[in-house]
Amino acid sequence: MAKVLIATDKPFAPVAVKGIKEIFDAAGYETVVLEKYGTQEAFAQAAADVDAMIVRSDKVDSDILCAAKNLKIVVRAGAGYDNLDLPGCSANGVVAMNTPGQNSNAVAELAFGMMVMVARGFYSGKAGTELKGKKIGIHAYGNVGQNVGRIAKGFGMEVYAYDPFMTDEQITNAGASPVGSVEELYSTCQYVSIHTPATEKTKKSIGYDLVGKMPKGAVVVNTARKEVIDEEGLIAVMKERQDIAYMTDIAPDSEEFKQFEGRYFATPKKMGAQTAEANINAGLAAARQIVDFLENGNCKYQLNK
Ligand code: 3PG
Repeated sequence: MAKVLIATDKPFAPVAVKGIKEIFDAAGYETVVLEKYGTQEAFAQAAADVDAMIVRSDKVDSDILCAAKNLKIVVRAGAGYDNLDLPGCSANGVVAMNTPGQNSNAVAELAFGMMVMVARGFYSGKAGTELKGKKIGIHAYGNVGQNVGRIAKGFGMEVYAYDPFMTDEQITNAGASPVGSVEELYSTCQYVSIHTPATEKTKKSIGYDLVGKMPKGAVVVNTARKEVIDEEGLIAVMKERQDIAYMTDIAPDSEEFKQFEGRYFATPKKMGAQTAEANINAGLAAARQIVDFLENGNCKYQLNK
């Protein structure tokens, strides 16, 4: 009987856990749930005898892979997989997957929650501004970015996108106006919503130069990863320009952002994908992918090919 661990320091909604268990019950698997575990040691202990794992942003590093001697597959229930040690998975014969697209709408909705919040002066009662008619630049036009584009149109915004992995035609067909460069995106748009993954190329790539190019009343919304921000550069440009706001779902390392009262906000815990719907979509997809892999060898969403 296969044993599956759901290791989520930030728990799924109970309804999603119930749905995941039902899938594993039907397959004849045992399910173990480890939530809010706090330390990597606790995670490693729980992983010791499992055949498969579902994680969220939980760090699957060499210690976990070493401890999980029976592990055959780990599925990141979500999009970004910078928390998975992919070479380590390969070295240990573990298939790593994600569930692309499953939580995108939730993240996109939160981006708009933060845009409205800043446009309305943090609900202070003072006259704010509207999103209608404003230009929004979507930095990376994948699943989340395209949901942002769809919602932006509902608000009556002009939608621009930059994505180095898409042609202009693909961006146009997916509903946005392409720009020639990332610099052009930032210099064109008052609102920029970041959806780029954290890679060696993108880390610390958004800071003084790009944000400094933005028009008056600039708002940068980050629901992607904190690592893509050059925090020193962003702080410097926010000090120089009182009109720039930074709204983020991933608290920065620097405490200095707290000085920008009224134009800075960070959620206490990353919550873009923290909806019942997103948890159900991503969690159940992960469970199905595990069953399909263990029963049929289906590797469709494998990341470490
Ligand atoms: C993702 O990459 O899917 C999102 O950042 C959500 O991450 P989470 O599962 O930790 O909320």
